[in-house]
Amino acid sequence: MSEYTTTLARRRTHVLASSYRTFYRRPVDIAAAHGVWLTDHDGHTYLDCYNNVPVIGHSHPRIAEAVDRELGRANTHTRYLSEPTVACAEQLLAHLPDTLDTMVFTNSGSEANDLALQVARFVTGRRGIIVTTNAYHGTTYLAQSVSPSLSGRRDTPGVAYVGVPGQDAADPAAEFADRTRAAVAELNAAGLDVAALLVDTTLTSDGIVTDPAGLLGGAAEVVRAAGGLVIADEVQAGFGRTGTWWGFTRHGMTPDLVTLGKPMGNGVPVAALVGRTDILDRYGARFRYFNTFAGSPAAAAAASAVLSVIEEDGLVEAAAATGILVRDALQAAADLLPGDNRVRGAGMMNGLDLAASPVDAADLAEDLRDHGVLVGTTGADGQTVKVRPPLVFGEPEVAVFRDRLLDVAGAYR
Ligand SMILES: Cc1ncc(COP(=O)(O)O)c(C=O)c1O
Repeated sequence: MSEYTTTLARRRTHVLASSYRTFYRRPVDIAAAHGVWLTDHDGHTYLDCYNNVPVIGHSHPRIAEAVDRELGRANTHTRYLSEPTVACAEQLLAHLPDTLDTMVFTNSGSEANDLALQVARFVTGRRGIIVTTNAYHGTTYLAQSVSPSLSGRRDTPGVAYVGVPGQDAADPAAEFADRTRAAVAELNAAGLDVAALLVDTTLTSDGIVTDPAGLLGGAAEVVRAAGGLVIADEVQAGFGRTGTWWGFTRHGMTPDLVTLGKPMGNGVPVAALVGRTDILDRYGARFRYFNTFAGSPAAAAAASAVLSVIEEDGLVEAAAATGILVRDALQAAADLLPGDNRVRGAGMMNGLDLAASPVDAADLAEDLRDHGVLVGTTGADGQTVKVRPPLVFGEPEVAVFRDRLLDVAGAYR
């Protein structure tokens, strides 16, 4: 690392709290980012195979134009009437099932999940929440309390945890449903009824478990039959990532509430809770909701620009097609690396599971970083290499990714 980068890392440690973590042992200092390429302070370039926030590519001019226009016009808030805010809601809801017909803007996925849980508890009059054993749903007090992946703690009162079945299970969907039934019973034994199942529809922090399609359908039915609501956390999976607009579609279910975030503004903070009108009206009859910055004209205009680019450039279909090539590259690496390695994924949400390999996924990610490719790791054991690029990642970029990945993997033989 250059002296500048080393000094910046030291200055950062002095002023930013220790709860922050950087990616990579040698952190990357991003000086510029365009499309799917990043450049560090020393002029090294990196292929972005990790970031799902800049879904339409880094530094997209449509986002800058939209935000600039609204900041220079009237960037107020949702207590005034504003065309961009209403237009964004109309454009977004048109992509969701008919029953999910109303929404609340928030600033972050955490706020959206927090509100979803508040709504579920209020309308059901119940307390119990079911999440997966390594779930991540955010950082507010409530979202953090249902995010065991943050601390490894699984002892929040009123929360039951469901392990995601391994892919060798005979019928993973049936097993997931059975485990969810057991979680409902566990809540009942503690004197609670289930208010909601909150689940990331690509089970990202549980190791990217996308298959079989339909995996979550039975669990959703179990929770509904027990009187609870189903909340799909689409903060990771939404906006075309899986090759469908929403991750829940692959599971053949329609949730009661859906939370959105990350890619929604391509880097501008904008997120949302979408839900059934009857549910959100019951909440709204009791509680007023105002969130100073959420759904401001600038944030809404950014979100509309993201939706328009996804629509115009056919990025959902592109994600489905390019994802096949990405998984093909990952499979080639899986075969090259020692161990019985697995590739999982849907669309452009993909993982290479090295749980059965002597190779440390973090080492591989580090080596890829040194070869100019940015990936991450996920899963309870951190052994799944996470490959989740912007959706504008195309065939030429897959070719670069494949070459460098196989170079790095080949060194482990
Ligand atoms: C599945 C999931 N839900 C919720 C969140 C929280 O979103 P935010 O960081 O915008 O608060 C994240 C963020 O990584 C996430 O991955």
